[in-house]
Amino acid sequence: MNEPAPNSTLDAMLAAQRIAFAPVMFQVARVMRNRGVLRSLQRAGRHGKTAADVANDTGLSTYATKTLLEASLSFGLVEHAGEGREQYRITRTGLIIENDRMTRINMDFIHDVCYEGMRFLDEAIEGGKPAGLKVFGEWPTVYEALATLPPKVRESWFAFDHLYSDSAFPVALPLVFERRPRRLLDIGGNTGRWAIQCCAHDPDVHVTVLDLPGQLEDARENVTRHGLLGRITGTPIDLLDHTQAFPTGYDALWMSQFLVCFSEADILQILRRAHAAMADDAVLWILDTFWDRQTNGVAVHCLHGSSLYFTCLANGNSRMYSAADIKRCIEEAGLVVEAERDHLGLAHTLLRCRKREAAAPGRRAG
Ligand SMILES: C[S@@+](CC[C@H](N)C(=O)[O-])C[C@H]1O[C@@H](n2cnc3c(N)ncnc32)[C@H](O)[C@@H]1O
Repeated sequence: MNEPAPNSTLDAMLAAQRIAFAPVMFQVARVMRNRGVLRSLQRAGRHGKTAADVANDTGLSTYATKTLLEASLSFGLVEHAGEGREQYRITRTGLIIENDRMTRINMDFIHDVCYEGMRFLDEAIEGGKPAGLKVFGEWPTVYEALATLPPKVRESWFAFDHLYSDSAFPVALPLVFERRPRRLLDIGGNTGRWAIQCCAHDPDVHVTVLDLPGQLEDARENVTRHGLLGRITGTPIDLLDHTQAFPTGYDALWMSQFLVCFSEADILQILRRAHAAMADDAVLWILDTFWDRQTNGVAVHCLHGSSLYFTCLANGNSRMYSAADIKRCIEEAGLVVEAERDHLGLAHTLLRCRKREAAAPGRRAG
C-alpha cells in the first residue's frame, strides 16, 4: 500500500516540506504532548482556548505557547476555532498524538532510542553496521547493549517491543497449544514474556529460552517473580555463531519478532539450524510483522518507519521484511509453511512450519 501521490505541484511541494521539516514537526508534537498543551486544548473542546489561557494552564511562557501553537497550525495539530485567530482548538490528529497508545509508544521509541542515532544513517548504509548505536556506546548490535542501556532508553525499547508482541500473544497461544507441546524452545525469548504466558496457559509445558546472557538475567528475574523457575530454563547463546547447534528434543520451536533482527543470510543459517534440531513431528512457529500482509496504510507506514531502526541502531543489516522474503528463506532452509494466519494483534502473521521431508505430500496451508 503506497502513500497516495500528491495531485498538484503545490501538494507535492507541501509533502516535500513536511519531510524537510519532519524533525521539527516531530519535536513540536512531542513537546505539545509532554508539556500539557494538547491536554489543555482537549479540555477546552470545540470552542478552543487562547494562547494566553494555554500558557496559564501549562505554565509555559506566552512566547513558547504562541510559537508552539502557531507552528502546530501548519503541522496539523491545532486549528483556529471560530471567526478570529485568537482561539485555538485541537484537531483529530492532535487528539491522536495526545491519547493514542500506539502513537505515544512509537514517538517515545523514536525519540529515546532512534532520534540521535538516525543522524548516522548514511554511515550505517555505507558500512552495513548500526552506526547510530555509538550515541549510547560501542557494541556490535543493540542486543548486546540492551541490558545496560540508560533506563529511559530501555523503557521505550521494551514498551515498543511489547506493544506489538503483547497484542498478538493471546491470539497465538491457543493456536500453538492446540497440539499440546510439552517442550517448547523459545528462540530469542528476551525477558521471558512469552515463556511465562505459555506456562500460565498450560500447566504441563516446559520452556527453554535461548537468548544473550544480558536478556536472560532479566528473564530469570521475571521467571522467579512468577514462581516458574522449575519450568522455564534460560540457555545463553550467540545465535549469530552458526557453528552452535540448537538444543534438540523440542515439540515446538518459537520465533517471535526475532528473524527481523538478522540479515537474510543469517536468517537462512538460523533456520537451517532450527531444521537440524527438529524431529520429524516438531513444528516451528514464526510470529512476525510483514509489511506486505497489512490491510491499512497506518500499519505499513509504522513497519517501513521502524525498518530503519534496524539499519541504523540495531544491527546494520536487517529490516522489516515482507512475508515473501521470509518464506523464501524458509523454503531454502528445507522447511515448508504448512499453515499461516494473518492479522493477529496489531500487525502479525503466524506461520507454522515443518521439515519438508516430514510434511505430508500435497498438504495445503490452512
Ligand atoms: C525484537 S526482540 C523479540 C523478543 C521476543 N521474542 C518478543 O516477541 O517480544 C529479539 C530478541 O532476539 C535476541 N537476539 C538478537 N540477536 C541475538 C543473538 N545474536 N543471539 C541471541 N539472541 C539474540 C534479542 O536479545 C531479543 O531478545
